Amino acid sequence: MLRVDVIVGAQYGDEGKGKVTHHLLREGDYTHCVRYNGGCNAGHTIYHQGEKFVTHHIPAGVFFGKRCIIGPGCVVDIHKFFTELQMLNAAGINTDGKVYIAKNAHIIQEDHFEQDSTETRIGTTRTGNGPCYAAKYGRNGAQAKDFAILQPFLIDMYEEFFYRSPNATVLCEGAQGFGLDIDWGDYPYVTSSHCTTAGALLNGFPPRSLRHVYGVAKAYETYVGAKDFQPEDEIFEALQVAGDEFGATTGRKRQCNWLDLSKIHQAVNLNGVTHLVINKMDILEKLDKWVVYVGAKGDNAIFTFPNRTQFCDYISHYFQDIYVTFSDSPEKI
Ligand code: IMP
Ligand code: MG
Repeated sequence: MLRVDVIVGAQYGDEGKGKVTHHLLREGDYTHCVRYNGGCNAGHTIYHQGEKFVTHHIPAGVFFGKRCIIGPGCVVDIHKFFTELQMLNAAGINTDGKVYIAKNAHIIQEDHFEQDSTETRIGTTRTGNGPCYAAKYGRNGAQAKDFAILQPFLIDMYEEFFYRSPNATVLCEGAQGFGLDIDWGDYPYVTSSHCTTAGALLNGFPPRSLRHVYGVAKAYETYVGAKDFQPEDEIFEALQVAGDEFGATTGRKRQCNWLDLSKIHQAVNLNGVTHLVINKMDILEKLDKWVVYVGAKGDNAIFTFPNRTQFCDYISHYFQDIYVTFSDSPEKI
């Protein structure tokens, strides 16, 4: 029986999904790891055996010798894909026969990259992501199967999961997050892919194969892009510094705000989250500020707690129907 667990971002990306993926792969019984959306706009920071890696395309399963697939919901920059393979090999990670690209994934081309390279309206990562999806849906795109150089890496999702490995246990690794989702995010300040559980299933997994859904959030919010997000208060500058909040792909400063529980609640409901991980508790600990928004943002929706215990109790109670875990370290849960 095919079983699928999904990791989704519950905020605006950069929630620490890479760490959760790495942890689950180390502890769990997975045979496969599949990236299901986005392209090299994503940057996943992973600590493996004490060493720091930033990956953009290749699923974190590669660190554990799992079969890793860049799914058909993704867009691929061929040059960056090979650069990343080389980076992993140079660090002693064996990728032979472990890394695949779905034959129907779309390829970012030079003109996509050029179109995106001067974008300022919404503040994209300028990696060609949006124009590539636009070409896909405009029926003008190019799929991985059309590129000779990718032939050794191609995989057919249907053959893989319905013939070769019908008993696979798959971890689906998401990129970006609910607030950046093309349908559910704050349009037009969104990415061009589906960052939800439903988006993972679109890669070729039937709904009944779904087992756990891991929603990942930070103990506060960050966002990179062109909209005004960070309120004017120097506490958020302190938060940005304490959390070292710079984009892993672009190096831009991430705007910061307190945790918005109503937003997370929406992400939990729409994604069918069964387990929620709240990361970077150590950063709030440094500032010793314990604040959440509930309901529409505004002064009367702010709740301030005197200490960590009350902050955690409130959140655990708010999400009492699911498992909630708080994490303090970039390397483990
Ligand atoms: P795009 O995905 O490059 O088109 O960018 C669209 C929006 O999503 C911009 O606000 C980006 O900063 C944001 N974005 C895209 N990928 C990520 C990510 O991995 N983490 C955080 N923000 C992202
Ligand atoms: Mg990131």
